[in-house]
Amino acid sequence: MKTIFIAGHAGMVGGAIQRILSKEQNIKILIANRAEIDLTNQSAVHLFFAQNKIDEVYLAAAKVGGIHANNTYPAEFIYQNLMIEANIINAAFKNGVKKLLFLGSSCIYPKLAEQPMREDALLTGSLESTNEPYAIAKIAGIKLCESYNRQYGQSHGIDYRSVMPTNLYGPGDNYHPENSHVIPALLRRFHEAKESNFESVTIWGTGTPRREFLYVDDMAAACIHVMNLDKLLYDQYTSSMLSHINVGYGEDVTIAELATLVAETVGFVGSIYYDPTKPDGTPRKLMDSTRLNQLGWKATISLDKGLKMAYQDFLEKDNRQ
Ligand SMILES: NC(=O)c1ccc[n+]([C@@H]2O[C@H](COP(=O)([O-])OP(=O)(O)OC[C@H]3O[C@@H](n4cnc5c(N)ncnc54)[C@H](OP(=O)(O)O)[C@@H]3O)[C@@H](O)[C@H]2O)c1
Repeated sequence: MKTIFIAGHAGMVGGAIQRILSKEQNIKILIANRAEIDLTNQSAVHLFFAQNKIDEVYLAAAKVGGIHANNTYPAEFIYQNLMIEANIINAAFKNGVKKLLFLGSSCIYPKLAEQPMREDALLTGSLESTNEPYAIAKIAGIKLCESYNRQYGQSHGIDYRSVMPTNLYGPGDNYHPENSHVIPALLRRFHEAKESNFESVTIWGTGTPRREFLYVDDMAAACIHVMNLDKLLYDQYTSSMLSHINVGYGEDVTIAELATLVAETVGFVGSIYYDPTKPDGTPRKLMDSTRLNQLGWKATISLDKGLKMAYQDFLEKDNRQ
């Protein structure tokens, strides 16, 4: 029986990892709510690891937010994320944890990175300024894993890996009217427009930017796949100072295509307009997931199917409130 600690189990990705792992045999899942342990608190984290014999860690806890939150609270984003990562990775090492998976984000890549973004684009240019503090903390997380592997991999047999997800959506998402990502925001807007019998919905920008989306259960499955990869195979496709792995769906869609799909999913029959006076953001953001594909994993949940499941989750949440 191995003990697996899921840091951030109450979040969207941590929850999905827990859903999958809880179906497996011979695994004891360890979780702790923020009230029990604040992961930015070094002594609390060390005590937790010392008191529990942990074999593997999924590090899915982070301070996460949209552009507005990143712009308003940059100090909280860099400080809390650095502390969570440093505390957990060091406590894991000190307490004999051999395997750990750190979750980063696609925002680690330079603002003008070539598309699709490959892993080796890391640290080749300036970051997007709005979420630079968060991105720097995520890059530090990758480098923490690599540095511990380089210094202690041989002597202590540790193997700490990193995955960089594209935009995620699905159960456990945040559907807040002002503070949510594009898919949950569109699900809410089209749902409310349908309920109110509105004749049209207007979307910010031209609808032409291209974005990639991955259903969260696919993300969780990819995390478990990467964690369990044979070390020789993993080493074959990574290097000691370029070890992270992109996790994407592999295809992108325009915002207009996405809006049409969401409207169909929700059953909104009115018109969709675009407001080109509002900002579009970067024209394209797509991960190159070749490395992960070569390592034997590919996304299986289509956007169409994922949106239907996400809308169910939205409706269930809406009914609970
Ligand atoms: N969602 C996306 O589209 C996306 C895209 C790329 C990368 N990622 C990455 O994937 C990971 C998981 O994201 P997510 O969407 O699942 O985020 P989430 O839903 O916000 O979950 C984050 C979890 O971390 C916990 N947490 C944060 N600070 C903590 C602290 N100081 N002490 C204890 N727990 C703390 C939160 O606890 P509470 O429940 O108490 O707040 C929450 O359960 C993150 O590293 C994120 O950067 C996400």
